[in-house]
This record gives sequence, structure tokens and C-alpha cells, in this order.
Amino acid sequence: MTVYLNGNFKPIEEAYIPVLDRGFIFGDGVYEVIPVYSRRAFRLAEHLKRLQASLDGIRLPNPHSETEWTSLVNELIAKNEGEDQYLYLHITRGVARRDHAFPQPPVQPTVFMMSSPLLHPAAELLASGVSAVTAVDNRWLRCDIKAISLLPNVLLRQQAVDAGCAETILIRDDKFMTEGAASNIFVVKNGTLLAPPKDNLMLPGITYDVVLEIAAANHIPVEGRKIGKDELFTADELLLTSSTREIMPITTLDAKAVGNGKPGPVFARLYTLYQNFKRDVMRQP
Ligand code: PDD
Repeated sequence: MTVYLNGNFKPIEEAYIPVLDRGFIFGDGVYEVIPVYSRRAFRLAEHLKRLQASLDGIRLPNPHSETEWTSLVNELIAKNEGEDQYLYLHITRGVARRDHAFPQPPVQPTVFMMSSPLLHPAAELLASGVSAVTAVDNRWLRCDIKAISLLPNVLLRQQAVDAGCAETILIRDDKFMTEGAASNIFVVKNGTLLAPPKDNLMLPGITYDVVLEIAAANHIPVEGRKIGKDELFTADELLLTSSTREIMPITTLDAKAVGNGKPGPVFARLYTLYQNFKRDVMRQP
């Protein structure tokens, strides 16, 4: 496995960072996860735009231009095996004496990238749907930043694993659903796709945007608005989206059936449309 670290491609065994890296000490950095299909980065421009927004959110200048990122990403894909991969990009505020405040003068940011095999969701899971639990969204108020400091998300996701479930759906202020511990969540009610608004309380998912585009292009009614906690439990369908899981049906929530307990028609349509979209976009010219 070949990774990229601060200007060099090297085997992962040879990639090291100093212990004073602010990513290690403070979780002071941001990241991106980008799926690769047929050796092409999916929605690269959108991922790089969100990376820029995350960097702006933590006041860290972008170490690379879009052109530089694009060639680094393409080189990383070429140096790794597999037609389908997922890329992890990670930028921290660099190595400095431990002090919460930004290093002054600023130091070189640390840039790390790696590729992993992209495993497609198992057919059985798509056919049966997955289970989820709900939990209090106890994260900070800048969930729109894709920050590497993921301790709340780690603990929340583990609640799902401990319950034998695939995801934890987060409820803010005992009122609204925000997203999953590592995914976005949609609700389907009476044929309408309900999407929580992209605000500071959730990560603006790239897959979320693709699903909304596909829905609009195929006349699936969409309502972007806050989704009440109770609406989760009266939903006809619940859907989960992320770069690594694409789009999946949630058929059990807190041990109760969602709708009739089976993946629903809106999921089936969106899943097919998503696969077609992916194929069309990634087809070699
Ligand atoms: N996570 N919300 C959260 C909190 C996430 O961590 C993710 C993705 C998403 C979905 O965003 P996208 O569609 O752009 O992948 C929403 C990635 C996959 C991860 O941390 O591994």
C-alpha cells in the first residue's frame, strides 16, 4: 500500500509523523473521504470544495491548489491496486511545541493521503436493510466541518456496534434528527423524501447532494426541512448515505420495524438511479 506524506509517496510502513503533530496532540485538522470508481475519483471537485470549506472553518490555509490536489489524487490512485478504492485525505496544522493556540509563526501543515479497497455494501444487507439505534447528538456546533477530532462520533458509532446495529442516528436537543454518526439520514413519508437542512449541525454529505440531484431529476418529491424526532419513528422508510456505503435502507430503529420492516420503493428507485448515475458519470469517454 502506497501512501502520500508531505511531498512523498512511500510504502505505509515507512510513513511516520512526529509525536508533536497537532493532529496527534489536539485532533487539530480536517479530512476527506473520496470514493474511486473505475480508477476515477467520484465528485472530486465537490470533495475538494468541501475540503476548502473545512480548512476555512479551522482557519488553516490550503496547502495545495485544486490542480495540485487533482494530480496528487490521481497519482495515489495509480500507485494503488483496485479499480474501486476509497481515498482518505488528512491535513493537520503541523508540528509545533504543545500550545492550544495556533503556532506563531505558522508551520508547514502535515498532508497525508492513503487509499483503501472500496467494499460495496453486501447484497444481503441491501435486500434486508440494516438496523440503527438513536442517541443524543452530543457533538459540538460545527458539525459542518469535517474535522479529524472524531471522539464523539467514535463513541456514538460504538453504541450502534454494541447493539449489533449498523449506525447511530443522532437527535439534537431531544427535538431534531441531524445525521448518522458517520452518514447522512433521509426520511421517506408518503412518497416524499425528507432531507434535513445543510446547516452547522450536520456534515454536508457529497452523497447526500447526489441523492437530492437524482431525486430532483426523476421527479421524486423532496422536502428540505428539519425532521422531528417523532418523524423518525413514524417514517415509511429511512435511508442512510455516505461515500463508503452509498445508499442503504434502515429497516429497524431502536429494535422496532421502520414502516413494514422491509426496504421500501423509494429506496429501490434511488438505489437503481444512483447506480446508473455512477455508471454514466464514471464511464470512460
Ligand atoms: N463519513 N456525516 C458524517 C458525520 C460523516 O462522517 C459522513 C461520512 C457523512 C456522509 O458524507 P459523504 O456522503 O460526503 O461521505 C455524513 C466518511 C465516509 C468517514 O468518515 O469515513
